[in-house]
Amino acid sequence: MSVVAKKAKRLLRGVLLMSALTAAVAQAAPRDLIIDTDPGADDVVALLFALASPEELKVRAITTVAGNVRLDKTSRNARLAREWAGREDVPVYAGAPKPLLRTPIYAANIHGEEGLPGIPVHEPKKGLAQGNAVQYLIDTLSKAEPHSITIAMLGPQTNLALALIQAPEIVNGIKEVVVMGGAHFNGGNITPVAEFNLFADPQAAEVVLKSGVKLTYLPLDVTHKVLTSEARLKQIAALNNNAGKLVVDILNAYVKADMEHYGLPGGPVHDASVIAYLLKPELFSGRQVNMVVDSREGPTFGQTVADWYNTLEQPANVTWIDSGDAQGFFDLLSSRLARLK
Ligand code: BDR
Ligand code: CA
Repeated sequence: MSVVAKKAKRLLRGVLLMSALTAAVAQAAPRDLIIDTDPGADDVVALLFALASPEELKVRAITTVAGNVRLDKTSRNARLAREWAGREDVPVYAGAPKPLLRTPIYAANIHGEEGLPGIPVHEPKKGLAQGNAVQYLIDTLSKAEPHSITIAMLGPQTNLALALIQAPEIVNGIKEVVVMGGAHFNGGNITPVAEFNLFADPQAAEVVLKSGVKLTYLPLDVTHKVLTSEARLKQIAALNNNAGKLVVDILNAYVKADMEHYGLPGGPVHDASVIAYLLKPELFSGRQVNMVVDSREGPTFGQTVADWYNTLEQPANVTWIDSGDAQGFFDLLSSRLARLK
């Protein structure tokens, strides 16, 4: 081999090593994340899950919205989750007290009057961050590197919709929005066709959908396949820590209604699937589809129509997740809760 050829080979090896290192560093960097949420039993499980996973998820803030219960209660419950996770470093911003247009609805029948069934609640030591969640989203996303921040959307989409209406350019700061919401194949949970988060503010979901942001939906289609069982709750109880005990007590109370209503062997932990998806997407599968939200008054108000078979030949606008590895989910959740007190 000539001297020139040897030099070229060494150079190429150097370049390949550098790109492998860059890829490894990029992979190791935690994902910048804002969690928008309405806690809520399953929201609290999702928050504990995310806050226990700092290697992969850099939770920059929790933003709260009215949904399962009123805003003052969802904001208190988010601060409780932060306290239980020992993560008071994460700011909690309160956002929209009501949906864009529709009359507010709540889900105290499922989540209890305080929004947290099965456990006593108290006023957390640390208060809310100064300022409103909508302004926080505008400020943070407008200053962010292009496509750098992920939003875990665990409740009605009012905060992000209000931010996008005021400052549409913030879409550039968003890497993707991963939504717990919607239902296609087996119907809804608040009406025969609508899922709660979409029904609670369909106009907000439409604003987010039309912004062109990268969207992944984890609807009831998948969350109703990732169910608790006695063995799975025992697995969490066996952690023998406060976080595990809280999650078991919350879930034991929370899953009852769904188990009875649907005749399911266990109950879904909806919002926690979003965190599992961010940590280990290989646990889930779905496809790119065109999806529309119905915001017209009437029996299909809040329905998500996902064109799974591309019948209408419209461009795909969301990744629609329809199945997940239930035991993989509970193994991951247990391993992360084990890290908390
Ligand atoms: C969704 O609605 C809420 O009640 C839950 O917290 C979850 O986000 C499930 O339909
Ligand atoms: Ca929620």
